[in-house]
Amino acid sequence: MKRLTTLTSTLVLAAGLSVTAIGMASAQSLPTLEKKDQYKVGFAQMESNNPWRIAETKSFKDTAETCNWDLITTDAAGSAAKQVSDVDSMIAQGIDVLFLPPREEKPLIAAVMRARSAGIPTFLVDRSVDKNVAKAGEHFVAFMGSDFIEQGRRAAEWTLENFKGDKGVIVELEGTTGSSPANDRKKGFDDVMAKHDNMTIVASQSGDFARDLGRQVMETLLQAHPDVNIVYAHNDEMAIGAIQALELAGRKPGEDVLIVSIDGTRDALQAIIDGKMGVTVESSPFFGPLACDVMQRYADGDKIEPWVQVKDRIFTKENAAQFIDEAY
Ligand code: AHR
Repeated sequence: MKRLTTLTSTLVLAAGLSVTAIGMASAQSLPTLEKKDQYKVGFAQMESNNPWRIAETKSFKDTAETCNWDLITTDAAGSAAKQVSDVDSMIAQGIDVLFLPPREEKPLIAAVMRARSAGIPTFLVDRSVDKNVAKAGEHFVAFMGSDFIEQGRRAAEWTLENFKGDKGVIVELEGTTGSSPANDRKKGFDDVMAKHDNMTIVASQSGDFARDLGRQVMETLLQAHPDVNIVYAHNDEMAIGAIQALELAGRKPGEDVLIVSIDGTRDALQAIIDGKMGVTVESSPFFGPLACDVMQRYADGDKIEPWVQVKDRIFTKENAAQFIDEAY
């Protein structure tokens, strides 16, 4: 047990993630995991169209070497339906364990339930499913990831502290509709802003977490709201797209428009260094080592906390240069 605890700390530190346990749950009704030298592990990725997703998949592939996994990965290319059928295919191939980042909260419940029926312990990674329908400790073992509401709240609080004008005219670029980070990052940010009369969210529209769509949505919203002076994007890719749209329109992001975002990609840290972006709240994609650790603990019969929570840093002009070399 002591040896495993040491391993946990080492792996988690190596991943750049810090973790706290929130509550404990019984694993009685869940499929168990027998102890083996090697596991057949499934990682069903949702898409690979941005640096965050690519870094997350690489983290799992790198961990397959160190954790001695026989790893199967799939790419659902942005389709929740394909992600469900990818999981079906992994079940048919006899995986021992499933790691699943569900693209959207509701459609992926089917995959979680089918894996459980097939006797495969499932860990949700980085995104979650609708908690009213599928529950950690009952339908899947645990959710490993950040507090997305808190990320939105921190983005809002940083904005309130750093906005220099009298009245904030805010455009919000939302992530994928129906996904847990889009729902929660919106809630965290909007709830804080609702308490401040000088802050108005004049438009809130999905850019699907994608750079080019973020740029297109920003171009359109800029025509309707030329007085925008704050952009809150649910991820860095859309923030970079918004910066492109603002610059094309002759605006000066970082000077006349404050850009506030979430993730911590290399391009975002560079934009902070260049003075174009104000802040990005960290949301780390490096889940592989944590997945190895949690899976080993589960195989050892340990009770796994229903939410293995990842703690996030915040990147601003004070520290972006210090961390850019470890960014993705
Ligand atoms: O689920 C986490 C989010 O998904 C990241 O913030 C985003 O960049 C990714 O696509």
